[in-house]
Amino acid sequence: MRVLVVGAGMYVTGRGTEGTGTILPALAQASRQLPIERVVICATSENSRTPVLAAVDRVNAALGTSLRVEYRLAAEALADPVADCAIVAVPDHLHRVIAEPLVSRRMPCLVVKPLTPTLADGLALLALQERSGVHVAVELHKRYDEANQLARRMVRDGTLGHLSYATVEYSQRTEVPTRHFKAWASRTNVFQYLGVHYVDLLHFLTGFRPEKALAVGTRGILATHGIDTFDSVHATILWRAPGGAPFVSQLAVGWIDPSRSTAMSDQRYTLVGSAGRLDCDQKHRGVELVTDSGAHSINPYFSEYLCDGTGRLKFAGYGARSVEQFLIEVRDGPAAIILSATLREALVATAVVDAVNRSLAADGEWSNVDAPA
Ligand SMILES: NC(=O)c1ccc[n+]([C@@H]2O[C@H](COP(=O)([O-])OP(=O)(O)OC[C@H]3O[C@@H](n4cnc5c(N)ncnc54)[C@H](O)[C@@H]3O)[C@@H](O)[C@H]2O)c1
Repeated sequence: MRVLVVGAGMYVTGRGTEGTGTILPALAQASRQLPIERVVICATSENSRTPVLAAVDRVNAALGTSLRVEYRLAAEALADPVADCAIVAVPDHLHRVIAEPLVSRRMPCLVVKPLTPTLADGLALLALQERSGVHVAVELHKRYDEANQLARRMVRDGTLGHLSYATVEYSQRTEVPTRHFKAWASRTNVFQYLGVHYVDLLHFLTGFRPEKALAVGTRGILATHGIDTFDSVHATILWRAPGGAPFVSQLAVGWIDPSRSTAMSDQRYTLVGSAGRLDCDQKHRGVELVTDSGAHSINPYFSEYLCDGTGRLKFAGYGARSVEQFLIEVRDGPAAIILSATLREALVATAVVDAVNRSLAADGEWSNVDAPA
């Protein structure tokens, strides 16, 4: 299997961090089980070549793998892509531009979240995908987190009774927009970048349809760094259960946490129903490390080098699983059992992002969510 990865940044190679990202090590780990002959990673600058190849060496050395990776400039690699599938991991506003020609060529694609910033872009991709019949998945990895899979079971088997409401808090350190995404932070917002995960998760947990959304935001801190985007976004979404009962979710999403925050991602949610309440702390997973550099709340379940039963290093977690699952679906072709979030499913969260963005622009007015059925 030949894999084309478009984008060579933080999520692919760990650029700007001490780590190696998620997608590259997930591919190396998957190469132990799946026939990955070659990976091409492409991006816009020649300056990415050395750090990408250095990250490949680090990953192969850590895992004892020999994943073959070539770095190419995107203009060249995308002109005539020779691959069996593609992973699109470029800034949010470029997902459609990059994915469209690949889908037109009938190349199976995994697009990182958010699928697209607007519903119109997402619908255009859906129309193309349905015409070509090719598999397009969206990398909504929270669906693979066991804590969330347990929550889904409890929602669906009635443990919580009739659901009434959910609250979500999700925030990251200021360094994310000011350092890692400085080049494009003002072209996205934190709801579209982070909030989308939990909108998709609420849909995955409940199966409910979002009906309308309102949102307000705060500004000021990122503006002092020259970044014109919201510091935080506060959204209320009204959903309908089958049968018409309302369900309300409120999300407080920000990216102005201090650099001393004990985790890059601070996240938790609560679901309340007629028969129970479920609190899911997604930051404090019970693993705390304190060194002279400070205290760290570690989430070993997302994207980590762990040891297997023999002590050998493996790259694991729900981030890695979502990449591996897509590769299995590509390998199995028409016989594949699709477990990834499909493009059509991802449009539910995209439609909410679209409505939230319209509400933010209209000073917090309710906006209809026009998710396709
Ligand atoms: N960083 C994370 O933890 C994370 C997690 C999940 C999803 N994502 C999503 O992944 C995407 C990329 O995020 P990132 O963290 O890697 O960002 P980043 O800014 O670190 O990297 C973006 C990469 O895309 C490349 N690029 C830009 N324009 C391009 C083009 N026209 N053609 C080819 N390459 C191009 C850049 O050169 C860079 O290598 C975003 O949509 C983000 O929302 C990120």
